[in-house]
Amino acid sequence: MVHIILIGMMGSGKTTIGRILSQMTGRIFIDTDQLIEKKLSMSVYDIITNKGEDFFRKEERDIILSISPSSASVIATGGGAVMNDEVFIYLKQIGRLVYLKATPMVLYKRTANVNTRPLLKGEDRLNTIHKLLEAREPRYLKADIIVDTDNSSPTQVAEEIIKRLTV
Ligand code: S3P
Repeated sequence: MVHIILIGMMGSGKTTIGRILSQMTGRIFIDTDQLIEKKLSMSVYDIITNKGEDFFRKEERDIILSISPSSASVIATGGGAVMNDEVFIYLKQIGRLVYLKATPMVLYKRTANVNTRPLLKGEDRLNTIHKLLEAREPRYLKADIIVDTDNSSPTQVAEEIIKRLTV
C-alpha cells in the first residue's frame, strides 16, 4: 500500500475530501499545511505574510520530504507544493497522486475566505486563480488520477477516488 496524495488548487477540496477518504479507508490523514503550522506554531497565513512565500516554500519542501514512505496515509498537500520539482518527484515515488480538478469559477466560489489564503488577496481574485491555475495545471495533470470536482459532493469525489484506485 502506498499513500493517497491529493493535489490541486486552493478550494479544490483537498482537506475536506482527504478527511472523508481517511474515514472511508481507515488510513491516517496528513495535511501538509497543518504539519507546517504545528512545526512553526504559526498559521500558514502568518508565515506567508510575515516571513514571505519563499520561506514558506522551503518549510513546505522540508516537511513533505520528511514524510515516511513506509506508511500508507491520505495526504492533502498545499496547492503550490508540487510546483517544487523535488517535492513532486518524491510524492510520485511514495504514493498515487490524485488531482482534484475544478474550474476557476468554482474555485473562486469555494475560496471566498482569503483570510486563510494570502496568495488570493488582492483586487481581482478570479484573475489570480486563472493565472495560478494556468501556471500549475500542466504539473497537476501529471497526477496518476484526475477527478473532476465541479459537480460532485466531497463524498462522491472520495467514492470515485476509491473506485479508481482499486480498479
Ligand atoms: C497555497 C495553498 C494553501 C497553502 C498556502 C499556499 C498555494 O493550501 O499551502 O496558502 O500556493 O496554492 P490549500 O491549497 O490547502 O489552500
